[in-house]
Formats: sequence, structure tokens, C-alpha cells
Amino acid sequence: MTLQEKIGQLNQLFALPVDVAGMPPLRDEDIAHGQYGSLLFVSDAAVTNRLQHIAVEKSRLHIPLLFGLDVIHGFKTVFPVPLAMAASFDPTTAERAQAVAAREASAAGVRWTFAPMVDIARDPRWGRIVEGAGEDPFLGSAMARAQVKGFQGAFAGESGHVLTSVKHFAGYGAAEGGRDYDSSYIPEEQLWNVYLPPFHAAVEAGSATLMSAYMDLNGVPATGNRFLLEDVLREKWHFQGFVVSDAFAVRDLVTHGFAKDAEDAAYLAFVAGVNMDMGSRTYEDNLAKLVKAGRIKETQIDAMVRPILASKIRLGLFENPYVDEAAAKAVFDAPEHKQEARRAAVRTAVLLRNEGSLLPLDRAKYSSIAVIGPMADSSVDIRGPWTVADDPTQAISVARGIRDKLGAGVKVETALGCEIRRKVPSMFDALTGIKRAAPLTDEQNTAEIQKAVALASASDLAIMVLGETQDMSGESASRTALDLPGRQEELLEKVMATGKPVVLVLLNGRPLSIAWAAEHVPAILEAWYPGTEGGHAVADLLFGDANPGGKLPVTFPRTVGQVPIYYAHNLTHQPEGSPGFVSRYWDEPSSPLYPFGYGLSYTQFAISNLRVNNEGVSVEVANTGSRAGDEVVQLYLHQRAGKASRPVRLLKGFERVTLQPGEKKTVHFTVSNDELSYWSAAERKWVRERGAYDVWAGNDSNASLHGTMNVE
Ligand code: NOJ
Repeated sequence: MTLQEKIGQLNQLFALPVDVAGMPPLRDEDIAHGQYGSLLFVSDAAVTNRLQHIAVEKSRLHIPLLFGLDVIHGFKTVFPVPLAMAASFDPTTAERAQAVAAREASAAGVRWTFAPMVDIARDPRWGRIVEGAGEDPFLGSAMARAQVKGFQGAFAGESGHVLTSVKHFAGYGAAEGGRDYDSSYIPEEQLWNVYLPPFHAAVEAGSATLMSAYMDLNGVPATGNRFLLEDVLREKWHFQGFVVSDAFAVRDLVTHGFAKDAEDAAYLAFVAGVNMDMGSRTYEDNLAKLVKAGRIKETQIDAMVRPILASKIRLGLFENPYVDEAAAKAVFDAPEHKQEARRAAVRTAVLLRNEGSLLPLDRAKYSSIAVIGPMADSSVDIRGPWTVADDPTQAISVARGIRDKLGAGVKVETALGCEIRRKVPSMFDALTGIKRAAPLTDEQNTAEIQKAVALASASDLAIMVLGETQDMSGESASRTALDLPGRQEELLEKVMATGKPVVLVLLNGRPLSIAWAAEHVPAILEAWYPGTEGGHAVADLLFGDANPGGKLPVTFPRTVGQVPIYYAHNLTHQPEGSPGFVSRYWDEPSSPLYPFGYGLSYTQFAISNLRVNNEGVSVEVANTGSRAGDEVVQLYLHQRAGKASRPVRLLKGFERVTLQPGEKKTVHFTVSNDELSYWSAAERKWVRERGAYDVWAGNDSNASLHGTMNVE
């Protein structure tokens, strides 16, 4: 290979389906000259084939392109968003979903996904909390492993699968103030114990690639961060794959004031360990100069190219560079993919409240149902953010799902209630092409509220579908508040005032502070963004064809002022629950609205008989109600004393079990030495210490069934 051909492999360009201002141009002749190793954002089989033909037939060395895309929660069939997937507390569901996504994407020629996103997020103002598994490293690691397995298959390169790029390395979820892209300041104790473990899990699960993050970590941009990319990733974790920068992050080392110019940026990212420059052409324009000047050796370039070519070989791209366009359609339309999506959506919903067992709804009782809210009949919003390849008109809204379930015998009518929209437009508008109606005036919104209230009054039941539109979470979608945006709460209060039974279905991608609803609305179902089959799944749950069993993967605060709030905080001078303790605030309780791990069911469970022995911990769970249902048995540990302070409790095991009425099961947890180790800020190394541990088992992070474990 010539030096130019090698540098080409380190260069990835956007090939967007639409023109977006400021994007560097992509030219067919440059593909023929071997100038790009990879393209991102092509999702159409005919287009990947066309571009691949140029690379394979016209370039001197016939090296195929690697097509990458953000296949985050589905390709054509959209699954629940990753935060929802974490709420399933069922890694197998995530694995199965990502295997479907991989099958569909690879049928279109996309063999590399920029997922899983494993950033721990403890600040729900940050819009990208929707893309990860929430606040907990143990759950986050389990979801990370499962997704890598689902996407990649048995090995990186398996046919019908895609390579993963675990992201965003590292600490992106700790952006100050929850403002996307802002600096993260993470003490080393939290870096090792909280933020890095899911990345380590993904690397150990064999993630072929990894993406460096945008932000400064403790003052050094992640994309120029040798500590992260060399010392941790390659030296400590023995990562053998390649690193791609986040989009334009190499160029942005200049913007950060870290590099003095583009050449310096290319140098700093390269020596830090970034193999591939996403989008910015900074490598393309500068690496040859750096080699010529003797700042980078050509052997170093070779070392950076090698894992990229190795990936292409493993994927079989040299033998099979093209896809069968006709066959792709059948893969996209496979009915079992829709079934999987519906099953996943059912398993990810969390029942937050159910006073008087209003749910499941008794069909015989209702002949007219009002489905109310700005997203009640939206097939766009039900999919959530990061849906770039599907057909939004094919997704099932909540209203449509209910109609499909009940048939013609029940009158199901919808009302907007009020509109909600971002005050600042989304950067994805140009890409998604979603056309939203013109904004309503305040008077028009008032009229919509009145119409909705009238409809509720004339119906037997109101199902309120509230939350956030799909562009209100995701990248560059931070918020300063966590309440229901727009006039939704006013709408809800007015519909409640009609005296009709009301069920609240939430569609959202972050914890919302819904304190009023939590006190006044009898039934609340957190459906997140459930995806293509979301409406059907919600109807299954509301009418009792399915029983909710999901649990919150992140704490729901009472108000935004409590943020950050998470269960695994350290003990303090005056811990919660100590004698005389009331609250840390004088205006609110310091407890959250809903704790991590929380979620109800239509049946009841009893968790008992906690036993701790040399093999681990076992506990019994029984379904004491009259319906089949799922419970997530959770194990929490607390090291009573150590050389450093330890969190009040840490999730160290969970299992989702299905039980028939009256059925009982024993759940066993083994606690590995790794799980008892932690990175000690006092000793500045990994330690495992002798002593007593509190053990709790239960069905949320307030679990009270207690035992003691002695570690020798
Ligand atoms: C920027 C985002 O931060 C990253 O998650 C994504 O993979 C790239 N853009 C490519 O779309």
C-alpha cells in the first residue's frame, strides 16, 4: 500500500442521504482513489452497493468500504430505546433485539454500528441518557455485554451481524450541568468504579471497535486522551480493535484549544490512539505531512491501519462486498422481527402506580375511550430518537394500538390536548425530515385543552399519552427542567377533574419529575419510546394481555433540583434513616419520587428466606397474586467498613423470573471476587478487603430483606 492508500483507510466520511450545510463533499472519484476506508450514514442497499462497486472495482487495491451507521435500537424495525431496554432488566431481550437490528442492517450493507452507548448517566437533564442503560455500572455492564453479543454474534465478523463501536469513551454522561458536550470532571474513584466498568465489559465481550468521546475528561479532550486510549484501553484492557473518533472530534481538538491547528490535531489524536477520523478529513489532510516531517513514522501508520483491514477481512468483505438488494426487503419485512419488537416493548414498560387496581382495564366496562395527548396518535414519536432507516408511517401509535386491540365495538377517539415542541430546534431536523405542524397560539392550545376535556367527559375512560416528543431527548437535547413540557400537566389536571377514570401512559427518554401525577393519577405506565410496535405493546399491557415487569434503570427525582440523585451514593455524617433524620432539604423530602429498580406488577410477589453461604446468596420469590407475572429479584451489597468509603449499597445481582399464580422459585446469586473489588481512592489501586457486608434482596433499591456476609 502507498502511504496515501494507508491514510485512506483511516479516513471516514459522511455520506448523508440529504444535503446538510457544512458537510465535506464525498466524491465518487475519491472512492476510486482509495481515499476512504469507511463511509457513514448510508442505509440503503442500492446505495451501499453502488459505492462499494466503485471501491472494489475501481480502486487500485480493491479494498472494500466499511459502512457504519448509528443502529442504536433497530434499523427498519425499531425496538424500545436503550434506556427502556435496561428497564427490562433482561439482557437476553437486549441481545435478541440487537441481533434483529444487526440482521436488518447487514442486509443493507451496513456492517458496523456505533453502539452500544454505555455511558453511565446520573443527570436526567442530559438528553443522551436515553441512549444508555441508566445510572448503574452493574446493570450497565450486563446490558453492554448483551448488546455486543447481539450485534456481533458469536464472533466479530459473523455473517448477518455487525461490528460494534462501544461509545463514548469515556465519561460523556457526566457532562457538567447535563449540558451536552460540556466538560466532565470525574474523580478517579468514580471513573474506575462507575464510568469505566461498562466499557471494560464491552471490550471483554469482544467489541471490535470503540468510539472516543467529544468532551474534555478532567481537562483533556477524550479524543486526544492518551491515558484513556493507550494506558487504560490498550495496556490495561488489551484492546485489539480500532478506535474511531466521534464525528469531527479530531478537528475539534483545535476548537477545544488543545491543538494549535489541524496538523497538530491530527498528530495529537493519532498519538493518543485514534485510528480513524470520523468525518473531519483532518487525517486525510495532515497525516502524510506529519510522516514527511518525521513526527510520525510510517510503521505507526501501519499499526493503525492493520486492525481496520483485519476487521474488513473478518467481516468477509473481500469475498462478499455486496448485498442482495432483492433479499434485503424480505429481511426487513420478516414478521418475526415485529413480534420481537412487540415482545421487547412489553418487557420494557414499567408500572409506576396502580391505585385500586385500575389496571389492567376491564374491556367489558368501557364502550367509549378517549385517548388524549400530543403524542396519543403519533407514529413518529413512539419510535424515539436515533431512528434513521425506518419508515415512521409504519409505527403503531398508542391510539392505533388500542383500536387494533378493541376492534369496532368500542368507540376510541383521540384529542391532541395541547401541543408540545422544543423552543430550540433539533439539529436532527434536516436529517429526519420530520415535518411538525405549525405552532399553536396560546389561545389555540387552550381550545385544544377544552376539546380534550369535553371528549374525556363524554367517554367512559381517558387514556392520557404524555411525555416528550422524540426530538426532546438524544444528542444535543438537554433540558433545564424535568416536568411534563408545555401545558401537559394543566391538561392532565383538567382531565382528572372530570372525575372519569384516568390512566397515564408516559412516552419519554429520561426520568421525568411527575410528582403531581404520582399523587393524583391512579394508574401510570412508563412506556418510554417503545418503538415500531409500541402501540400494540401498550395496548397489550393496558388490557391485561401482558403484565408489566420492567424496573427503573435510573432514579426518578421529585424535582430537577435533586439532580444528581442516584441510589449508590456514599454514607454521610448524617445518613438517610438515621435517628432524627428528616430530609436534607427544608422544602422537599430528600428521597426520590421513584427509586432505582422500582416497578409494579398486576400481581404481587413475596421475597423471603434470604440465605448467605459460601456459594453465594439465595432467596425465594413467590407469586402471591392471581395472575402470572414477572418479578426482578435484585441483590444489593454494602461493605460495612473499608479503607475507603463505600456506597450505601450496590446492585450485585438481578434476575427476572416469570411466575404463575402460587408459584415459587429460588434465585441464586454468586458474587465473584471481581464484584467484591473496588478501586480505592485511599490506596489508588484495586482492592478487595476482608470484613462484613450487608446483603439485601428485594424488588427495588430500597430492598429491606437483610443478611450478612463475611468476606475472609
Ligand atoms: C455524534 C454522536 O455523538 C455519536 O454518538 C454518533 O455515533 C456520531 N455522531 C455519528 O452519527
